[in-house]
This record gives sequence, structure tokens and C-alpha cells, in this order.
Amino acid sequence: MKYNLRRPAAFSLRTLATTLVLLSLLWTTARAEEIKSPNQQLVLTFALQSDGVPTYALTYKGRPVIKTSKLGLELKNAPALTSGFAVADAKQTTFDETWQPVWGETKSIRNHYNELTVNLQQAATSRTVVLHFRVFDDGLGFRYEFPLQPKLDYFVVKEEKSQFALAGDHKAFWLPGDYDTQEYSTVTSNLSEVRGKMKAATTPNASQTPFSPTGVQTPLMLKSKDGLYINIHEAALVDYSCMHLELDDKNFVLESHLTPDAAGNKGELQTPCVSPWRTIIVSDKAGDILQSKLVLNLNEPSKIKDTSWIKPVKYVGVWWEMITGKSTWSYTNQENIKLDALDYASVKPNGTHGANNANVKRYIDFAAKHGFDAVLVEGWNTGWEDWFGKHKDYVFDFVTPYPDFDVQELNRYALSKGVRIIMHHETSGSVRNYERHLDSAFQFMNKYGYTAVKTGYVGDIVPLGHHHYDQWVNNHYQYVLEKAAAHKIMVNGHEAVRPTGLARTYPNLIGNEAARGTEYESFGGNNADHTTILPFTRLIGGPMDYTPGIFQTKVSAYNPQNNSFVHTTLARQLALYVTMYSPLQMAADLPETYEKHLDAFQFIKDVAVDWDATEVLEAEPGDYITYARKAKGKSSWFVGSTNDENGRTSKISLSFLEPGKKYVATIYADAKDAHYEKNPQAYAIRKQTVTSKTKLSQYCAPGGGYAISIVEAGAK
Ligand code: NOJ
Ligand code: CA
Repeated sequence: MKYNLRRPAAFSLRTLATTLVLLSLLWTTARAEEIKSPNQQLVLTFALQSDGVPTYALTYKGRPVIKTSKLGLELKNAPALTSGFAVADAKQTTFDETWQPVWGETKSIRNHYNELTVNLQQAATSRTVVLHFRVFDDGLGFRYEFPLQPKLDYFVVKEEKSQFALAGDHKAFWLPGDYDTQEYSTVTSNLSEVRGKMKAATTPNASQTPFSPTGVQTPLMLKSKDGLYINIHEAALVDYSCMHLELDDKNFVLESHLTPDAAGNKGELQTPCVSPWRTIIVSDKAGDILQSKLVLNLNEPSKIKDTSWIKPVKYVGVWWEMITGKSTWSYTNQENIKLDALDYASVKPNGTHGANNANVKRYIDFAAKHGFDAVLVEGWNTGWEDWFGKHKDYVFDFVTPYPDFDVQELNRYALSKGVRIIMHHETSGSVRNYERHLDSAFQFMNKYGYTAVKTGYVGDIVPLGHHHYDQWVNNHYQYVLEKAAAHKIMVNGHEAVRPTGLARTYPNLIGNEAARGTEYESFGGNNADHTTILPFTRLIGGPMDYTPGIFQTKVSAYNPQNNSFVHTTLARQLALYVTMYSPLQMAADLPETYEKHLDAFQFIKDVAVDWDATEVLEAEPGDYITYARKAKGKSSWFVGSTNDENGRTSKISLSFLEPGKKYVATIYADAKDAHYEKNPQAYAIRKQTVTSKTKLSQYCAPGGGYAISIVEAGAK
């Protein structure tokens, strides 16, 4: 009886409890959260669908930027983290700080956002995922956090399923999605045209793995029909695979597509851990995209405490002469060189080796005479005869110079003239070999006084099967960066993963290539509009070692076999020092060529590489960009304007100058008849007094541009 009486009572309590849980589940399921940017113009809405699928949407000034888009991840051999979620908790916080970068486009950076943190519980699997949305005035960043928990410890990612549902068939500035290269020309087309243009866009490269007829890379720059500029990228790519975007070209929905590793896995993660931030920068002004600091702000503050040894670098180098084919990296033409089985002293030199003592001294003299900080020397070390297009595990050793490169004497000579030699480590993609030699290579650099290294990853990654942008190889770049920091070495990585603002955390990452650089002007050419796009795409993640300053635009002048030409005017080569932001800038042409154009070369000598302030005076992706930048700690300004294949007149106001002061402007412009194909070297230099009230009207030739240095009258 007792038993019978208690049973219904217990039952009804349980029923009540169940009903409460169900009710709360219903409530949480239906829950939507809204959060605005500090200036209220961006609105992020988070919502769970009835099946527990997390979604988000973003508007800017009431206009849709990202329509309702799903979030989640698919796992290998485990239930997906894509649905069946309930909101356990959601909270909003605000953050506002101003920080000083070690080097940069501005003296200080404001990091101001409102953050929505949503704690998601997947009841069926007892797993938790936390979503973080940071809404800035210039855009949105969101990431997944996987807290430490019993039911989610080590897991393998099959695919991340973050969607970016666009509001229409936007104009896109895109590169073919590829696990191994970014060295493509940008295609400008509507999203609906990507599929039809993919094949032609996928030009050959030493290592390439395109993955889909509608896969594209980030940073992806978009423009909507109603004039919204949207940029999609990622920030703080650490211990994770690099994200591409797969396009659904019927509905204009982009979805994350991660780079697989050698086993086909897209991430090997262990809680507690986080994904990189997925970033969406948006504005109705193109210039705001260029000014955005969102990607940097989403990275952690510097982990390097003493940054006094990190300094911007202006350099020349034994480089373009090899790129054009005038000289060689290799010391001998003997083939089949196996490093450990060869004594270089016994081989016949080819007589074309660029990094020989006399030539390197010539560059050092030139650098010292014209005030450059450093000379890059490529081809100084043994192994260049037999590195390309093979999958050798043991390639370079990074410490053995060729017989005609006296490492001790050349570094002594350089240092005696106040110049440093920049080390070069081409790894030939053999990551294992580089790690094998890394300690001794960096010790070698410390011993001889090298403070910067240019690394390179040409060719397929060894161990084979890995990709340039997979998690394991990204971890390698990170390992090199941190090891370099321990040795007080600055890093400029070529063919490495595209930057994602990590230079905030590791400011010794002073450069990256990770796009089609000036070298391609010698490999067939870059499009005339190339540098009107890169600041909107590749540079959103960080500075690029673009290596401008080519005055001899006909490559055949150095190598009669090479008919490539530089697709810009000479004046525009000067503009690039301002428009292609980098704390590491090369004057890439040969000393003998600069000696013939010392008047134009003066701009490269004068231009700053570190800045207190940056203004975008004019900008339209694919058409033109004009920047003004104030030199760090000085009153002088530099202006650069880059232009596509059509001539135009740029109209700018110098209102950025301090009112009441007089300045002398030296204007390096295209001559009237200049043309990037027909008459690239025609330039004209003039001087005029200017003030903050001055307005300038300047003609830019097809494929041209201009550069201006503005120095306070009477200042030095
Ligand atoms: C490709 C790099 O981008 C280039 O600058 C370098 O000279 C070659 N690899 C050789 O390492
Ligand atoms: Ca390259």
C-alpha cells in the first residue's frame, strides 16, 4: 500500500521535472540573441533552429551582409557537432583597449568590441561547444571554443561547417582554392561566374592542389550590387588547418573548407582548444576595409617581451638577377649533386653564381652608400644544383657556404659598413629537413651576426602527402617563428601559409609572401590591376614582401632569353612602397640600374618603412588605391597611388598635413606619354610647396601611378 501510494507521487514529481526540462529546452531552442557593434551599425543575431542547429546573421546599417548561416563541425568517428544543441547560457560583454604595435601602419590601435558568448550543450552526447562573437565597428569575428570536458577530449575534424550566406551574386576578387599555393592572379567576376573561370585561373605552380571548381581562398574580397564591401578571412590561425571557402553558386552560400593533412584529416584537436577566428569586415566605403585592424585585434598581444631587437628593414639583394635568369643560385652546372657525397672544391664552377664574394661586396657597398639596412643573399649555401622539383628528404643543411662565399669575411665587411646580410633558407618544402637543421642554422646566424631570415617552401611538402596549409605544416611555421624569436631572429616566410594577423603576437614575423609577388613579373607577368587588389585581399592578413622597385621593366635587358616585362610603369614601382604596406621593403632591382635613375631612386631611399598614421585618400578594388602615410616619429608624409590598366586622374586633398605648416612635395609621376606596356620608364619629377589646403590633381598612366614625398619646409 505504502508502495502503491508512493509510486504515483514519485511519478508525478518526475513528470513535473521532465516537463520543466522540456519547457526550458523549448525556451532555449527558440532563443535568439542580438548584439550590436559599439557604434550600433552592425547587428549580429545568433539563433538556434528548432533542430538545435546554431546559426548567425549579420547586418550593416540595416542591410544584410550575412544571411542566416549555419555553424558547426563534423568529426571523424564521432557524432557531429552541428545540431541537437541547446543554449545553456549566453552573455554579453564589452571590451575597449588601445595598444601600440611594435611596427605598423599606425602608432596605436583601438580594439573595441561587444562580445556575445554562447554556451551550447548537446544533450544527446553530453558535449559542450562555446561560440564567441565579437562585433566591432568594422566587422565581426567568431570562433569555436572546445572546453575541457569528459565527452570531448581528443577529436579529429572531418570538416568545419561554418557558413557565410551572402545576400546576392556579389562581385568577387578571388583566387582558386588550393591546399599548396596562393601564387595565382586574382580573378574579378561575379560569384556565379567562378565555376566557368576556374580552369583558366588555375595556372601552373611548383606545388599545387586545387580541390574544387568552386573553391576559393581567403581573404576573399566582395562587393555587393548596392555598394557594400565585404571581406572574409580568418585571424589567429594557430594549431589548426587553414580555411578555404567552398561556394554554392546557386544560393551564394560560402562554407568553410579546411586543408586536409596526409591522412585526409582536417584537424587533430584536443580540448581545451579553440578554432581561429572567422572574420567578416564590412563597410560601404572601400577605404574602411583597408583601414580595418580587426584581424590584428583578434590576435593575442605580443608574446615576445623584449621587442627592442625587432626593427623594420629596407634592403637590397642578390635576388632579381637570379629571378630574371641573369645569374644562378647554383655554383656549378654539374647535375646529380648529392650533398654528403660531394666536395664542391672539386667541381667545375659555372661562372654564373650570383652569391660570390665580389658581387656580394658590390651589393654591400651599394647598400651602405644609399643608406639601406641590409642585403639579402640567396644561393650562398650548397645544394642549389639539385633541389627543385624533387622530393628529397635531405636537401640543404643551411650552414655550408659555397666555396666562393666567405661567410665570415662578408659579414665582417657588411657590419663594418653598418649593413647586415639577410639569411636565406630555401627548404625546398622539406619541412622535416629544416627542423632537423634548425638549431644549428639559427646558431650559425647568431654567430655571424644575421638578424633576419627569409624562409621558402618551394615544391611539395616532404613528408609527402602533407600540404602547405594543413595543421601539421602550420605548426611547423609556428615552430620556426617561436624558435627564431628565442634566437632574436626576424622571419620573412615565402610559400608559407597566408598571414592571419599573427604578427601582433609574434612581431618578429615581419614579412610573408603568400601571394603572387614581383617575381612573377619575370615568370610571364602580373596583371596590371594586381596591386590595386592585393591590399584588399592578401594584405588583410599582414604585410607582404612584394619586392617592388623594378626600374628596368624589360626582363630581356638582363636575360635575352626572357621576354617577360613588368606590368607597371616605373613611377608606379615607387608608389608600391606606400601602397603595399610592409615593415620589410626591398629595392629589388640591380644596383647598376638604380645608378642610371638616381633621381627616381631618391624616393626609395627616402620613403619610410614604419608609420605613425595612415590615410586612404581614394580606393576601389581592382581600379586604384591612393594612400598617405606619416613617417614614424617624423613630420614627413609619403603618398602612393596605384592604378589599373586604364589611365585616370587622381584628385587628392593634402588636408592630412598639419595646418599652418609649409612642406615641400616631390612628386614622382608618370610622364604624359607613359604606358605600362608601351612606355613604362617615362617619368617626370617635380617639386612644389604644399600646405594642408593644397589640392592635387595627378594624371596616372595606364598601369601607372605616382609617389610623393612631403617634407616639412626647413626639415631634414
Ligand atoms: C621563391 C621565392 O618567392 C623567391 O623569392 C626565392 O628567390 C625562390 N623561391 C628561391 O628560394
Ligand atoms: Ca614564391
